[in-house]
Amino acid sequence: MKIIIVTGCNGQLGRAVNDYYKNSTEYELVNTDTAEGFDNLDITDLEALDTFFDKVRPYAVINCAAFTNVDACETKEDIAFKVNAIGPRNLAIVSEKYGAKLVHISTDYVFEGNEPSPRKETDPTGPIGAYGRTKLAGENFVKSFSNHYFIIRTAWLYGDGKNFVRTMLGAAKTRDEVTVVADQIGSPTSAKELAKAIGVLVPTDNYGTFHGTCEGVCSWAEFTEEIYRLAGVKTVVKHITSDQYPSPTKRPAYSVLDNYMFRQTTDFEFADWKDAIREYLESEK
Ligand SMILES: NC(=O)c1ccc[n+]([C@@H]2O[C@H](COP(=O)([O-])OP(=O)(O)OC[C@H]3O[C@@H](n4cnc5c(N)ncnc54)[C@H](OP(=O)(O)O)[C@@H]3O)[C@@H](O)[C@H]2O)c1
Repeated sequence: MKIIIVTGCNGQLGRAVNDYYKNSTEYELVNTDTAEGFDNLDITDLEALDTFFDKVRPYAVINCAAFTNVDACETKEDIAFKVNAIGPRNLAIVSEKYGAKLVHISTDYVFEGNEPSPRKETDPTGPIGAYGRTKLAGENFVKSFSNHYFIIRTAWLYGDGKNFVRTMLGAAKTRDEVTVVADQIGSPTSAKELAKAIGVLVPTDNYGTFHGTCEGVCSWAEFTEEIYRLAGVKTVVKHITSDQYPSPTKRPAYSVLDNYMFRQTTDFEFADWKDAIREYLESEK
């Protein structure tokens, strides 16, 4: 069996990756996280990673660990940098040392999001907030220290964990109306779809940077309407602008990624966001 280390295994993507590989006869997962109850491996600790990789000798590592609270990144940028930039740097260094492939996950927030057309992998980056800045630094470290990397930028991710879908369904339990931002556009992406895409790349030498999001676009308000429609919820979605929503963080307005490299180099096709959210809600029943 080929061993794959999964960091941040208790997060949304970490769980989806576990689900994807659960019946594999070719790969064995070694799960790690900083959360209680898991094999503790802090990706910011280079020495600990070196010892762990020396012991496990993995075929690949899938880095699902990150500091994902976008608002908290603004006030705790040093901590976010440690996890989102130094962490992947460390993983790139040890992966290269022990001959492992590195799958690293990044974000649409590395782009400014001010152009109303989908961004390709080769388009210039320009993050407007701390989360995007730290994630971009992580990408750059991975590119500098590893020759065997897959960087996958995803967006608007939901899976098993705290996410937008669960928050909006929770809100609907006590409210007849919710106000949701309608001027931020993106592609809601299920962790299950992203895990499948990772599974396509891992066995290959098809290295590089990829965009990996579900197909189709919507606003957060339209996403909420679709969630409520599928869940049979009657709560009304009132569309508001980003200016009307109290947030300490400026977010990209047009956050759509073009999965250009996946189309160019693989046969893999991401599901449409409406099909993926339907499947997710059915699996939550
Ligand atoms: N969520 C989104 O909408 C979104 C959008 C674009 C890109 N992404 C990217 O997609 C990837 C997966 O995101 P996700 O939503 O699955 O994240 P998540 O649910 O927040 O999970 C992240 C996991 O990483 C763990 N972690 C935090 N710091 C760590 C450290 N120093 N060492 C080891 N583990 C650590 C966390 O543990 P604790 O919970 O104990 O801190 C948590 O289990 C990330 O790279 C993220 O940046 C996410």
